[in-house]
Amino acid sequence: MQLHTNVDLSQYNTLGLRSSAKLFTELHNIIDLHGLINDESIKNLKWHVLGGGSNLVLPHNVEGLVIKVANTGKQLLHEEADHYFVKAAAGEVWDEFVQWTLQHGYYGLENLSLIPGTVGAAPIQNIGAYGVEVKDFLHEVTAVDLKTGELKTFNNQECCFSYRDSYFKQGGAGKYLIWEVTFRLPKRVHLNLDYGDIRKELDRQGLTETAPNVSKAVIAIRTSKLPDPKVIGNAGSFFKNPIVASSLRDDLLKKYPNLVSFPATEGKHKLAAGWLIDQCGWKGKKLGPVGMFEKQALVLVNHGGANADDVWKLAAQVCDDVRSRFGVEIEPEPVRW
Ligand code: EPU
Repeated sequence: MQLHTNVDLSQYNTLGLRSSAKLFTELHNIIDLHGLINDESIKNLKWHVLGGGSNLVLPHNVEGLVIKVANTGKQLLHEEADHYFVKAAAGEVWDEFVQWTLQHGYYGLENLSLIPGTVGAAPIQNIGAYGVEVKDFLHEVTAVDLKTGELKTFNNQECCFSYRDSYFKQGGAGKYLIWEVTFRLPKRVHLNLDYGDIRKELDRQGLTETAPNVSKAVIAIRTSKLPDPKVIGNAGSFFKNPIVASSLRDDLLKKYPNLVSFPATEGKHKLAAGWLIDQCGWKGKKLGPVGMFEKQALVLVNHGGANADDVWKLAAQVCDDVRSRFGVEIEPEPVRW
């Protein structure tokens, strides 16, 4: 396995930020990982695990070692009366895996089509879209303890999933490298068609209600609203939708009857951050080389040549504006190295 020095990471993060890694390696098998763990010369460096780089704000210089997880493979493990158990390597591209499940008749992940990133990154922030979160179908995660090299299996509960969050972003952050993920997909198909424009899109395209068609509809909706990172750098939604006390939401609703909100846990509501940011006039607005996307105010885009400072400067201004107008705190979704 090769360790490379001073590697340009602009191709490894979907925001396309200029960034350089002091040490970099691509990891294809677990023997190489054990080699890294036992290598005295790099043991004490800070390690950064990289997936698809789609939920990441990279600093100009990344000290320490960057490990790009690049193992591959996907297979049906076994089936039970009601479920298929399907396993994928962490380095697989998420959407390619989703399309593979659909082609094989293993349904459930269709609403999560076209989400950028890798299989291994999906559980870390519990990716979600169109009424589905990965936690709804995740059976277990196999991860490598970066201190001991031992494999540890986390069942769904042990992953402590919540909205865009998990154990791997909290207590387990930096301790494990996710190696494989197993999904439990129901044989009895239950389509989630209620969120957003899925039904409308199926109608528009004249498609029947099947899982592969839901995937097609989701892809069409996402493509129409979200920028393609290959064309314009972005990290998907840049802010999480804030969860606030229902009393605050009720007060806001009196003042702003168009406020977009959804019931969350008992006594709380989730507000659409995109709406809040849009109302503050940020949609399509630029600050230096970055801006908020013209079709979706929640998506921060790199118009070219941006670095992390540009991103955080804009993010801070957007947060300040939302706070002073609505009294609501919004929080960035991407991870900061
Ligand atoms: N809205 C506006 N203006 C905007 C953007 C949105 O008024 O500029 C309003 C919309 O009209 C809608 C509401 O805000 O009423 C919510 O917007 P949308 O349905 O587009 O979804 P979202 O809350 O902005 C979330 C996820 C997305 C996911 C979509 C679809 C988060 C932070 N984002 O976005 O996930 O694809 O729902 O399910 O939860 C991601 O995490 O990277 C991501 C793209």
